Amino acid sequence: MIAIGSDHGGYELKTGLIAYFKKMQWPYEDFGTHGDASVDYPDYGIKVGEAVAKGNYEFGIVICGTGIGISISANKVKGIRCALIYDIHTATLAKQHNNANVIALGGRTTNLADAIKMVEAFKHETYEPRHQKRIDKMSKYEKEQCHE
Ligand code: RB5
Repeated sequence: MIAIGSDHGGYELKTGLIAYFKKMQWPYEDFGTHGDASVDYPDYGIKVGEAVAKGNYEFGIVICGTGIGISISANKVKGIRCALIYDIHTATLAKQHNNANVIALGGRTTNLADAIKMVEAFKHETYEPRHQKRIDKMSKYEKEQCHE
């Protein structure tokens, strides 16, 4: 199950990705926003981040105009490693090296065809455990320094 959410700047790209998920019969949950009225990206980045952190999703996708604000927001949630991806190479490395559990896209910087290729690349890539030491360092910091 994929968790997906966006602000108004990412709404159109989210709608396009959801149509693709339906075509591919990939299960997903849409955390909004549900229209192009102006909203605040932290509300959606945090919502998707919290859902993914609870562990019931394969990964999350967050989208705002640039992907920047909503990736920063998702990364405030404990346990989230959100990667802003902008091509197939970064999509691939976000899984291989960072084991990202959320990816961020820019609705005003990335077109649907490219976004689909990136999501496909990320979804089908495999994490390389030789990078675990670095992820453990981030988790350790979070555990020790970021209190509830
Ligand atoms: C909203 O206009 C815009 O600032 C937002 O979608 C995003 O690009 C922020 O990083």
